[in-house]
Amino acid sequence: MSCARAAKVAVIPGDGIGPEVVKSALDVLKAAGADFESVPVEIGYGRWKRTGQALSEEDLQTIRECDCALFGAITTPPDPNYRSVLLRLRHELDLYANIRPFHSAALDFIIVRENTEGLYSGQEEVGEEEARTVRVITRRCSERIAEKACEIASGRRRLTIVHKSNVLHSDRLFLKAALAVAKRRGVPAEDMLVDAAAYNLVVNPQRFDVIVTTNLFGDILSDEAAGVIGSLGLCASANIGLDFALFEPIHGSAPDIAGKGIANPIGAIRSASMMMEWLGVPGLAHQMEKAVQKALEKGARTPDLGGECGTQEVTAAVIELLE
Ligand code: NAI
Ligand code: MG
Repeated sequence: MSCARAAKVAVIPGDGIGPEVVKSALDVLKAAGADFESVPVEIGYGRWKRTGQALSEEDLQTIRECDCALFGAITTPPDPNYRSVLLRLRHELDLYANIRPFHSAALDFIIVRENTEGLYSGQEEVGEEEARTVRVITRRCSERIAEKACEIASGRRRLTIVHKSNVLHSDRLFLKAALAVAKRRGVPAEDMLVDAAAYNLVVNPQRFDVIVTTNLFGDILSDEAAGVIGSLGLCASANIGLDFALFEPIHGSAPDIAGKGIANPIGAIRSASMMMEWLGVPGLAHQMEKAVQKALEKGARTPDLGGECGTQEVTAAVIELLE
């Protein structure tokens, strides 16, 4: 989208390292000259501990009134009755496409994950002796995620549809729908079983361009892809709906390193860059990504990448390398 007025961005730092990396992303956006109004929203575990509520109706309304959101990470409380804030946001805002690009010096591929159904349907029965989760696959959601993946794949080499249709018959519907969309749109497509995809991501990740898959497989494969790239802390994502989008690093709140000043801010900075692209400012997005790559080349690295820099040093290096 592009708009004459400054975009309104809901800024949701969340818990743990969330606020640390979101601050870095905001600092880089500011230094790059991004023009937007930020609307702070406090939701998550910290808020739940204080008030007993992690996300209220008013928060949802505040978020809906914005154009998009920049999100850090949220800690999942140890309470079986707690409903994931992020899952709720994805459902309420119908953010159906989770787009996760993976870049390194040698690799460049994107995972497009269906974000609203599959094993994350929320339809569960948990008893003492038996528990069930319903895996929902619909033609409508399979087609719309395939459409989004084809949009991203056009001009690139190949779309890989990842599934487990040999065992999960629900995936036959997903595969059939995705293949039909790719054929109609003229995007070269192949399909691959998820276990083979997990193996290939490690031994031959160069073979992938755009992967499209169902919710749980996409969740797992994207953390694996982050490992292949070098660190969870490097990777960004967009959760896209029809008229709203939420941008977040793919990592969680990392309580083991929170407050130490060593969280890798690159995933959050890259998420902010994806946000600028979505807001219709691709030049600024590209400038941010270039500065990130140069900072990494110059050795501005946090400990997860084997470096010795802190969050603020890496952020300062990125800012200095903005052109
Ligand atoms: P995590 O992603 O927070 O951490 C996994 C490992 O990666 C940890 O060793 C952590 O130190 C490291 N790591 C993560 N991000 C990093 C960064 N930016 N820089 C350097 N190292 C980084 O996953 P974990 O430990 O399984 O979950 C912690 C909490 O976060 C849980 O409560 C979980 O439910 C929540 N979570 C939230 C997500 C979200 O809000 N989007 C996503 C994943 C988990
Ligand atoms: Mg995950």
